[in-house]
Amino acid sequence: MKRQLHLNLFIHSRGHHEASWRHPLSSPLALTDIRYYQDLAQRAEAGLFDSIFLADQLALGDDASQAARTWLEPVTVLAAVAAVTSRIGLIATASTTYTEPFNLARQFASIDHMSNGRAGWNIVTSWLAAAARNYGGTGQVSHADRYARGEEFVQVVKALWDSWADDAVVDDRAGGQYARADRIRPINHEGEHYKVAGPLNLPRSPQGRPVFVQAGSSDTGRRFAARHAEAVFTAQMEKATARDFYADIKALAVAEGRVPDQVLILPGLSPLIADTEAEAQRQARELSDLTDPEVGRKRLSGRFGGHDFSHLPLDKPLAPEDFPDPSTVEAARSRTEVIVGLVKREKPTLRQLLAYLAGARGHYTTAGTPEQIADLMESWFTEGAADGFNVMPPVLPAMLDVFIAEVIPMLQKRGLFRTEYEGETLRDHYGLDRPKGGAWN
Ligand SMILES: Cc1cc2nc3c(=O)[nH]c(=O)nc-3n(C[C@H](O)[C@H](O)[C@H](O)COP(=O)(O)O)c2cc1C
Repeated sequence: MKRQLHLNLFIHSRGHHEASWRHPLSSPLALTDIRYYQDLAQRAEAGLFDSIFLADQLALGDDASQAARTWLEPVTVLAAVAAVTSRIGLIATASTTYTEPFNLARQFASIDHMSNGRAGWNIVTSWLAAAARNYGGTGQVSHADRYARGEEFVQVVKALWDSWADDAVVDDRAGGQYARADRIRPINHEGEHYKVAGPLNLPRSPQGRPVFVQAGSSDTGRRFAARHAEAVFTAQMEKATARDFYADIKALAVAEGRVPDQVLILPGLSPLIADTEAEAQRQARELSDLTDPEVGRKRLSGRFGGHDFSHLPLDKPLAPEDFPDPSTVEAARSRTEVIVGLVKREKPTLRQLLAYLAGARGHYTTAGTPEQIADLMESWFTEGAADGFNVMPPVLPAMLDVFIAEVIPMLQKRGLFRTEYEGETLRDHYGLDRPKGGAWN
């Protein structure tokens, strides 16, 4: 079959643009109203998206008074969304730094059971410095240590998910046997960070293992992705860097003995779509006019681990020296590389940089006609920059609706996107193999 695009809907606030929450076209529902998430998932399912995705951070940002940056706990949301959808994949973020592998393995296995095989876990190590203060207050775990813990954490979770053989449950009422004891085994893990006896207290889930998603792009993050990820989210500001990233991850995965098409690369794309380019640009300006540069300044500081940017004037061109060296940043390292790279290339003023980041926090943003968006997606897809996209509408649900009504039919006409769901599980939609871990001898 012809290779086709994979589309994930990234649900964030009332849209990815920083000012979406106060835009007249964004949803009137509260961000704590489950119907908001259920409705978006149903729209995305009608549009035949592969999956939806919820991000998560473990601390309140310090801009809560001026930005709608609250959300419900993602795994809980997936449970409620699973109940009102039947095909779309359900991906949530959960941290390897601030939870225990046993908790996480149960939660995601539960979602996989409840959704009949549609769960995915976005493995994050949690870059936000403030999160550390909510979990014991002993200070932020370093970038390297976070990934080292993450590595062991993932090994434990895999072992727990494989601790029941596929055929362990017999549920034989007449014979009085529920499960075969010889098909359930402890894991007896004793590592540097975790001691977990196992087995999991839940049978193996429909996908065998929920899908592993990963979104860290630093050198360490890439190697982690190459070992474990089955889908990789990434922020890329141009096709050229996206191609380098794509080639690098696929090569690293091959070096790990994996098959390249079992690691999907999905860069973020935040498209503002209108009938004419001029109208799309007008809408982009309208959103930009609703932003507050001081909110952006605080967020920039958070990305760089709390670095103080308060002395920088808004209208003077920036230089790389205005930023800490990304290799020393213990927070969102790869995103700081993207930002400093942009400053080197384009020398924007702080106001211009913040306006750009307000669009989608460093992901690719563009404004154009449906055809221009479809062309862009096709070119990234056919020229080795993407296997699909993490679609990040600037305003929800209005700009998702336009994408579904106008862009998806064009992609379908070009044979680049499905016209119906062919499988049932997230693995089916993404074309991923079922892991063999449950097939015991
Ligand atoms: C699309 C996307 C979504 C992400 N979602 C989260 C998230 O929900 N929570 C989080 O702590 N980090 C999130 N991240 C950040 C990464 O997981 C990672 O922590 C960060 O990029 C720092 O790691 P790195 O230096 O290896 O890139 C996301 C990144 C991307 C590209």
